[in-house]
Amino acid sequence: MLKGIFISLEGVDGSGKTSLKKELLCRLDAFHPLGLREPGGTPISEKIRNLLLDTANEDMQARTEAFLYAAARCQLVETVIRPALQEGKMIIADRYIDSTLAYQGYGRGLPLDFLQQLNQLSTGGLKPDLTLLLDVDPAEGARRRAKDTPDRLEKAGLLFQERVRQGYLQIAREEPQRIRILDAHKPLGTVVGDALREIQQLLTKKGWNQPGS
Ligand code: TMP
Repeated sequence: MLKGIFISLEGVDGSGKTSLKKELLCRLDAFHPLGLREPGGTPISEKIRNLLLDTANEDMQARTEAFLYAAARCQLVETVIRPALQEGKMIIADRYIDSTLAYQGYGRGLPLDFLQQLNQLSTGGLKPDLTLLLDVDPAEGARRRAKDTPDRLEKAGLLFQERVRQGYLQIAREEPQRIRILDAHKPLGTVVGDALREIQQLLTKKGWNQPGS
């Protein structure tokens, strides 16, 4: 039985997940939350991240990509996420299994049942207690990261990101209990408030009203 709380943040590139994660880590400081990112979060997973995002790897096949994301996730789940949840910690992860369905499934066009099996194999079926989906128009996402050098996935273009966005919305419709959609066109402060309200409901449900309880 895992005692901790697992929250994941999802959305297209430029949806503001990383800024939201930073704010949540600050605002929930009393719970000593552990912030993670995917792919990444362990030395091996960070090396796999470099392979995945390197623009030199233009010929990477969609299934190779899916297996690499799964490998990075497997290492993170086994060495960080599961042990932390067993110790009763709170985890806030920037991306998790829904990214694979949205990007490699709806974005790249790989079969969803293959990706669901892959997610199951790489995580042992571990799902977040709550997933906050930051929904934003990909064109707005692109404007927000206009100053950054695009990585391999970001170079896939706006039509790709639009498929990913629609994929996320479909995934959220299928799991409304776990996945809550936040309107990420709103200013960050409003999105943070919306996210904290969802998290508070989860904390109440889990009897976590006091830090450490
Ligand atoms: P990040 O920029 O949000 O850190 O994520 C890196 C990129 O990897 C981002 O474009 C989304 C993509 N990605 C997938 O395509 N599949 C996955 O399973 C994950 C975790 C990320």
